Amino acid sequence: MMVMSDKNAVQPGNPTIAGLALLNALKEADLDHVDALEKRCFDSPWPRDAYARELHNPFSFYKAIRSTEAGKTAGLAPILAYGGCHVLGEDAHIMTVAAHPDYRRCGLAEWIMLALLTDAVERAAAAVHLEARESNRAAIGLYEKLGFEQVGLRRNYYPATRTSPREDAILMTSFNPGPSEQLYEQRDAAARRAQMKLQHATAREKR
Ligand SMILES: CC(C)(COP(=O)(O)OP(=O)(O)OC[C@H]1O[C@@H](n2cnc3c(N)ncnc32)[C@H](O)[C@@H]1OP(=O)(O)O)[C@@H](O)C(=O)NCCC(=O)NCCS
Repeated sequence: MMVMSDKNAVQPGNPTIAGLALLNALKEADLDHVDALEKRCFDSPWPRDAYARELHNPFSFYKAIRSTEAGKTAGLAPILAYGGCHVLGEDAHIMTVAAHPDYRRCGLAEWIMLALLTDAVERAAAAVHLEARESNRAAIGLYEKLGFEQVGLRRNYYPATRTSPREDAILMTSFNPGPSEQLYEQRDAAARRAQMKLQHATAREKR
């Protein structure tokens, strides 16, 4: 798939990515798409109201990767990935991250995570924390790739769902998310890689 570049994709401080754009702050108007994706990505999805409340939380910020008009014309979903973070003093906490099941392993979650980390550091976070289901190899692999270390375990933290038993949470921390200039570069490089991988994946699918 080749998607044409689109003026809407250009945002200050963000790379111009044909077909995709980083939405720096989720808005109420995006929540139907996020809600639909949340239900596809999680066995125990957050209700739409929880996201609506989070948009008004002064300590939180939520970002998404959306398709531009050119991306939509080329058949991409309106929202391809999203994530959110809280920052309180020097501590940040990743609240959620998810990528559309049709576009996994293209680097979209890595792009979102780096966008969240960049913002967290800009807001003076010195350490970033998160937790993941013990069996969630994809999420743990993503966090390890970004330098998070396992720092503890919270027993039986996750309730049983339709498809998983009750499970422990792995607690992970990034003690040195890096200076914001470096994170900006990493974020922009991740954005370019994701665009390329997505184009290859969708071109393969069409063959
Ligand atoms: C976890 C999740 C967000 C990863 O999204 P993604 O866009 O497919 O991830 P990326 O393509 O950005 O992967 C970045 C890195 O994460 C790791 N990773 C991603 N998926 C993986 C998998 N299935 N197995 C092992 N490692 C994986 C790899 O290190 C990968 O880098 P590489 O492709 O260069 O090897 C996605 O699987 C998802 O939405 N899962 C459901 C929701 C969820 O569990 N969220 C996390 C809650 S804690």
